[in-house]
Amino acid sequence: MIGGGGREHALALALSRDPEVTEVHAAPGNPGIGEVARLHPVDPLDGAAVARLARDVQADLVVVGPEAPLVRGVADAVRAAGVACFGPSADAARLEGSKAFAKEVMAAAGVPTAASRVCETEQEAAEALDAFGSPYVVKDDGLAAGKGVVVTEDREAALQHAKVCGRVVIEEFLDGPEVSLFAITDGETVYPLQPAQDFKRALDGDQGPNTGGMGAYTPLPWAPTGLVAEVQERVLVPTVREMARRGVPFQGLLYAGLALTARGVRVVEFNARFGDPETQALLGRLESPLGALLHAAAEGRLAEVEPPRWRQGAAVTVVMAADGYPEGPRTGDVITGIEDAAALDGVDVIQAGTARSERGLVTAGGRVLAVTAAGVDVAQARTRAYAGVALVDFAGARHRTDIAQEVP
Ligand code: AMP
Ligand code: GLY
Repeated sequence: MIGGGGREHALALALSRDPEVTEVHAAPGNPGIGEVARLHPVDPLDGAAVARLARDVQADLVVVGPEAPLVRGVADAVRAAGVACFGPSADAARLEGSKAFAKEVMAAAGVPTAASRVCETEQEAAEALDAFGSPYVVKDDGLAAGKGVVVTEDREAALQHAKVCGRVVIEEFLDGPEVSLFAITDGETVYPLQPAQDFKRALDGDQGPNTGGMGAYTPLPWAPTGLVAEVQERVLVPTVREMARRGVPFQGLLYAGLALTARGVRVVEFNARFGDPETQALLGRLESPLGALLHAAAEGRLAEVEPPRWRQGAAVTVVMAADGYPEGPRTGDVITGIEDAAALDGVDVIQAGTARSERGLVTAGGRVLAVTAAGVDVAQARTRAYAGVALVDFAGARHRTDIAQEVP
């Protein structure tokens, strides 16, 4: 397991619970991952070092969690060393790494998305803003850890963002609920997972700044029947086919961020890895062994394993963040109550920004941990998740109280 956040803890936990998996190693991991895997102080961005570690521990499979190593070619380095790797090549990860590339692929594949223009000068940007009108959507072309997108009714602010970024994608505003739908693919066979929703804003009622995600739930009882089949047919399969046609097959996790607009499904963005914190919720319901799916995808034989099976019911994930997140989170506060929360029915505590110190487990990042609970339905999973949150404590702990509350 490459990475050390909440997504990687959820993946490592699911792998450790797979009876076919004998050992899990992580680089660099985190204290939560350390409970289910052996940790190695290896830089996840250093492809040569990751490949060496994979050889040293005789790994059958390397799973790359975050986007940054993928965009840097860490999966290529691992494969070049003769080890199977779940995660796209650097070239294929451009689906996430470059908004302009993603738009080009979608156009070629006929995938429904917002109309857009790539702009490199202030004048091009100004013309695009006026062509699409308010609200304005301006996206930095490169990887920006969720901070590259500005949606605003203020034309000056939109223009300013375009100027600061240099090369941007300016696009039509998409109205409607957002859905995350992930698919595991080996570049040919595509297995969609279940729809999930994440909560990006820091505060209740979708107020406050954008974050990496404050919570999630799955499935979406309100989603139209046939949504997964429609996205499979109109988005996931055509995108994977188009990537293969270009000679840059996409193998790994294809994340479609969707808007359900009045005019139909539109792709908001692609990511090249599991979403965080949707993965924490999704894996709480996955019944199939995760290892076999990821391994088969990595080896180009996904069609030989059954599509993922899911437990009945729902799962809800509530993120506990540090005071000051996302602007300037404070760190070093002692965390208590994790064991008590994890002992509750259906509850897992997934760590993200934590560290060991002589005072015990302390906060070490903005999103500190996530309490994930499974239940017979969203309401029960939600009650259980918040019961877990109530038991975990650290100075300045913050969480949203409305995750999965108003299921539209
Ligand atoms: P992205 O990094 O492309 O996912 O954008 C981050 C967030 O900005 C998305 O989750 C949406 O909430 C919002 N956003 C992006 N593109 C659009 C759009 N065309 N219309 C409305 N909102 C958007
Ligand atoms: N849940 C948003 C992301 O992983 O990008």
